[in-house]
Amino acid sequence: MDALSVSHVSKTYRQKKKGAVPLQALDDVSLTVKPGEIHGLLGPNGAGKSTLISLIAGIIRADQGKIEVFGVDVEKETEKAKVLEGIVPQEGVYEMAFTVREVLYYFSGMYGVPIAERNPRIDKALEDLALSDKADERARGLSGGMKRRLMIAKALIHKPKLLILDEPTAGVDVALRQKIWELVRRLRDEGTTILFTTHYLEEAEQLCDRITLINHGRIIKEGNLKEIQKEFSKNVISFELFDRNVPHLPNVTPEGSEFHYPMKELEADMQAIASHYNGNLKSVRSEAASLEQIFLTLTKD
Ligand SMILES: Nc1ncnc2c1ncn2[C@@H]1O[C@H](COP(=O)(O)OP(=O)(O)OP(=O)(O)O)[C@@H](O)[C@H]1O
Ligand SMILES: [Mg+2]
Repeated sequence: MDALSVSHVSKTYRQKKKGAVPLQALDDVSLTVKPGEIHGLLGPNGAGKSTLISLIAGIIRADQGKIEVFGVDVEKETEKAKVLEGIVPQEGVYEMAFTVREVLYYFSGMYGVPIAERNPRIDKALEDLALSDKADERARGLSGGMKRRLMIAKALIHKPKLLILDEPTAGVDVALRQKIWELVRRLRDEGTTILFTTHYLEEAEQLCDRITLINHGRIIKEGNLKEIQKEFSKNVISFELFDRNVPHLPNVTPEGSEFHYPMKELEADMQAIASHYNGNLKSVRSEAASLEQIFLTLTKD
């Protein structure tokens, strides 16, 4: 069973202004997230990522299609689905007048965490998100990045099977970002399935097992990140030599200070280069396409 199955979902927003054309935010979107994976949902501003997350969260309704979380239909059995999900929305709704601990206590109650377990879980969540020293401060007094962290703590408190994070690291400082990455990996290792969006493609490269690229409400690419990178790679091995004026292997071409060799099979080709040039070889590398290059290629309008 898939952790998340989105099947042929479309969503059009009716515009409030009279005469305005309705906006189709999602157009026949299908995607699956497998149990135990970290899945990146990537796309430019306005692509439809947050709309999709609101649909999965049961906050808004699809015009067409079906969404299931571990086999539970989010539209027909919204309450049951909600217990399986932990959602960190892009924009937070904060219980501003309460303290950080009170907010978390409230949500642990709402999701049925047994009373005896609430405080230990809250302490752990506070520690994981470096908020322990803010436990008794009011949410309204937190900085933007801290509010973001509180939202994550809130989504984790009932140990959801599927954690969905909409730009969890936007506006979060560098050290904390790494801490969130660690947390995401740890949760995955403990069996949580994770779907997240980010505009930091390096972050997606670091964390994701699989990605889905969405643009103008349509899925444009989906799959294993390594395989997608392979597909977009330039298939050349670049190398530098100490002495450039030597007999070359067939098909070697000079490229600036380097030479390029068309790659057929990475390991065998590397060996051929190493044995041909031997001690004259200064450096050698094969380059996988970065997610950023792939993203720009695919979202070019
Ligand atoms: N409540 C709404 N009413 C009308 N239009 C909306 C609403 N929410 C989103 N939209 C429109 O739907 C489209 C998709 O928006 P969405 O927020 O899903 O994009 P996104 O991929 O999350 O973008 P970003 O990266 O900027 O967060 C946009 O054109 C947006 O203007
Ligand atoms: Mg968004």
